[in-house]
Amino acid sequence: MKTNKVWVAPSVLSADFGKMGEEVARMESCGADVIHCDVMDGLFVPNITFGFKMIADLKKHTSLPLDVHLMIDRPERYVQRFIDAGADWLTVHCEATNELIPTLEKIKAAGIKCGAVISPDTPTQALAQCFPLCDVVLLMSVYPGFGGQKFIEKSLQRMQELHAMRQACQSSALLEIDGGVNEQNAQAIVAAGADVLVAGNTLFSAADPREIIRRLHSL
Ligand code: DX5
Ligand code: ZN
Repeated sequence: MKTNKVWVAPSVLSADFGKMGEEVARMESCGADVIHCDVMDGLFVPNITFGFKMIADLKKHTSLPLDVHLMIDRPERYVQRFIDAGADWLTVHCEATNELIPTLEKIKAAGIKCGAVISPDTPTQALAQCFPLCDVVLLMSVYPGFGGQKFIEKSLQRMQELHAMRQACQSSALLEIDGGVNEQNAQAIVAAGADVLVAGNTLFSAADPREIIRRLHSL
């Protein structure tokens, strides 16, 4: 799945939850590649968003893949519900489970893209074992929980480490980055190896998200 294209993934965490369907359709019409959906349980992270019903309902408003980022404790309890709801990509935090590999295998067996997510303070080596299984590896560049935070600079170095790990295991996983991505830092992030840029605040607060997506695509 290696690609040179930059994928742009608006994060609906920054959307108006009262009109989520329209917001997702708007981002699709502006040229987004995938819709990033942040699921939070108030336990793994200190915030609560939405669950599988939102995923099932959003499917009716877009033909883009739904990239479901699970920030929930012991995600193995719920992955089947998100698969059934129509997640196209399903990512789980390595810090949230003692069953990372079986959980990734279960997602993969369902025929959708599986991925591991790593928080800012977890050494990238924590992903060494599961890397070959992943279709996508998601690096958090802020502490998970909230949109609109500042990009953590050491994430550039960490993205380079993941890029080297990908080469070492001859994987073609997409490298995704999430948190604090903006027009100023996107070029350096792509240069460090990212394929998929999640952007919440940057796109949803923009007067012209189409133009921002166009510029991100041209990196
Ligand atoms: C944070 C979420 C992110 C968030 C990114 O826990 O995983 O997806 O929406 O928002 P920005 O792009 O505003 O940092
Ligand atoms: Zn996210």
